[in-house]
Amino acid sequence: MSASGPVGVALVGAGNISGQYLGNLTKFPDVKVLAVADIDEARAAQAAAEYGVEASGTPESVFEIPDVEIVVNLTVPAVHAQVALEALRAGKHVYGEKPLALDPASGRAVLAEAAERGLRVGNAPDTFLGAGIQSARRAVEAGLIGEPVAATVALESMGPEGWHPNPAFFYVDGAGPLFDMGPYYLTALVSLLGPVAAVAATARRARTTRVVGSGPLAGTEFPVEVPTHVTALLEFAAGYGANTTFSFDSPAGKRLLELGGTEATLALPDPNTFGGPLLIRSPRDEEWRELPIEGTEAGRGIGVLDMARALRSGVAHRASGELGLHVLDVMATIIASADAGGFQKVAGEVAATDALPASWDPYEATL
Ligand SMILES: NC(=O)c1ccc[n+]([C@@H]2O[C@H](COP(=O)([O-])OP(=O)(O)OC[C@H]3O[C@@H](n4cnc5c(N)ncnc54)[C@H](O)[C@@H]3O)[C@@H](O)[C@H]2O)c1
Repeated sequence: MSASGPVGVALVGAGNISGQYLGNLTKFPDVKVLAVADIDEARAAQAAAEYGVEASGTPESVFEIPDVEIVVNLTVPAVHAQVALEALRAGKHVYGEKPLALDPASGRAVLAEAAERGLRVGNAPDTFLGAGIQSARRAVEAGLIGEPVAATVALESMGPEGWHPNPAFFYVDGAGPLFDMGPYYLTALVSLLGPVAAVAATARRARTTRVVGSGPLAGTEFPVEVPTHVTALLEFAAGYGANTTFSFDSPAGKRLLELGGTEATLALPDPNTFGGPLLIRSPRDEEWRELPIEGTEAGRGIGVLDMARALRSGVAHRASGELGLHVLDVMATIIASADAGGFQKVAGEVAATDALPASWDPYEATL
């Protein structure tokens, strides 16, 4: 493995989201995409050809490429931990899509394997590193809302089967509105307010089956195995509160992420995006005011790039496995609370990471 120059990367999982990663990672000069893998080798070959990537094949075959330093794991949640462990055992750092694993014990096993081998784990989402949420963080740190008090989250829709051609995995263990969309909101909140100490929740499921809405499988019925409407109160270690709703049972639809303080409230951008708008409103304002945002809007893969650069310079990367594990702990505790009732303590903690400098440029060659 080279210890200088661009960091070699291989993608495992050439499905729906892989195009966004390939489109971006092949344009960032500090990483070099060397291979694409999938259990469906033809799919991997097609993705590799489309983005000018030299090699493709099975996951095992790309783990054997010596110059691959980071494996980017874009498989479905059910195999996130298994693929991560295989990559680590092959001596590769891993950066995975969310959630880190299906359950906290599997997530801890991934982090333990990495620690034992002196390897890194990174985890999506990296949207919180985008201009929108980073500018919100700078606004909070500059005191624009006074002292934070509480956050409000509403992620409400009828679910992804209207647009995703293969949506059954959104309704099994590891997904549902909480595990699929929760990481965007919870990661943004943890990056702004620090770790969550305790949660209390309710959960329900309005339908036991759903129907594929587009693509070759349109009209096919599939089972719903997870709660599809989750409400949770969060208590942060620093004392702040949040009331949150994650729903695929909401006909009206809503996306809201607000952070109220003693002086003003921030309305943050959709945390599944990298840009704005970022709005603020104080009691003196008749309308929301838009704040300027600064930073990168390059899109999915900036967390991989931050990890690659951190690998070369020996500093901590931001979209870390530890952050992914904390978010997974919060989500698992929300489900435990919905089952058992009452407030439940969240195991584990997570250290704060530095904000991304506003001038951080993914298109600059620094290595
Ligand atoms: N689709 C989106 O808009 C979106 C957005 C953000 C994040 N994500 C996350 O990205 C991940 C993938 O989502 P997707 O929509 O691309 O799913 P997908 O089903 O379209 O693609 C997953 C791919 O992984 C492959 N795969 C499955 N098991 C494998 C294994 N053991 N080894 C190698 N390859 C394997 C499948 O063959 C498939 O090509 C999920 O964790 C999801 O939460 C998806």
